[in-house]
Amino acid sequence: MPHRYRRLRATPAIRNFVRETHLTAHDLLQPFFVIDGKNKKEAIPSMPGIFRFSVDLLLKNMEAYIRLGGRGGVFFGVSRDKDTTGKYAYASSSPVIAAIKAIKKHFPDFLIVTDVCLCAYMSHGHCGIVENKKISNDKTLPILAKMALAHAQAGADIIAPSDMMDFRVAAIRQTLNKEHFQDIGILSYAVKYASAYYGPFRDAAHCAPGFGDRKTYQMDPANSREALKEARRDVEEGADMVMVKPVLAYLDIVSTLRQELNIPIVGYNVSGEYSCIKAAAQNGWVDEKAIVLETLTSIKRAGADIIISYHAKDALKWI
Ligand code: PBG
Ligand code: ZN
Repeated sequence: MPHRYRRLRATPAIRNFVRETHLTAHDLLQPFFVIDGKNKKEAIPSMPGIFRFSVDLLLKNMEAYIRLGGRGGVFFGVSRDKDTTGKYAYASSSPVIAAIKAIKKHFPDFLIVTDVCLCAYMSHGHCGIVENKKISNDKTLPILAKMALAHAQAGADIIAPSDMMDFRVAAIRQTLNKEHFQDIGILSYAVKYASAYYGPFRDAAHCAPGFGDRKTYQMDPANSREALKEARRDVEEGADMVMVKPVLAYLDIVSTLRQELNIPIVGYNVSGEYSCIKAAAQNGWVDEKAIVLETLTSIKRAGADIIISYHAKDALKWI
């Protein structure tokens, strides 16, 4: 006897009972950009609704986010100090380190995830040490480990390396363990594609590469097989969770990792994905609330346990 599937769609009540995927506050991490100074709030033109904050205003903004139910965030330092050694990435003067300390003090239960990468601290904007116009994998590793350690010492809960150097998870894990930070987690940006969707972020974090592109370290969008290799290796090296980034054009990868791995999978709904929706919504071309909730739900349905999204704060108002 053929079934009538419309029975289970007939009323809001039955639809709510049979719904498979639910978004909650514990699914969402909001990204925050931190700058130095006082009383500073800078708009990012390509990301309407997102700002760079000095630490004092960051805390105010976070208070509003927490009041809406926000439970965690990913923190990015935006640095004025840049050189070719990456030393500002672990300097105690770094705005993100001041932010971590202040957040731990004011909001001790808030989950602090910090992005670990050198591009915002490099005059050339690349994610590693440059030698003869090439990005040196192995010379970059100790700097990343120092940066991770500085974040852990300041009070970060989870370190999230986003540089795509090989063996950086092992280098960070070893350094953290040696310095008695064995309880600090690592969320690896294990599967990070060389994507045009990062455009607005590079405006936000002032980290566009000054020459060339990131294709010698970030993955080719045409490839899926190496996603599993990258993720498995990072788990072997000590990653507690792995990320797929960007997420919307890569939901097939999220789904594969979900089936193959037994650790939490994180999807990063990146800046360009956010800005596309914002631009269409501002033009009145799409219904922002509906499209944001549909989009975030699709990431969870594909298999992500956690979603990093610039829409997180708005989504909390709506769910
Ligand atoms: C830095 C970094 C980038 C993003 C997160 N960390 C940019 C890049 O790799 O060029 C992108 C995030 C976004 O677009 O929202 N390595
Ligand atoms: Zn980088």
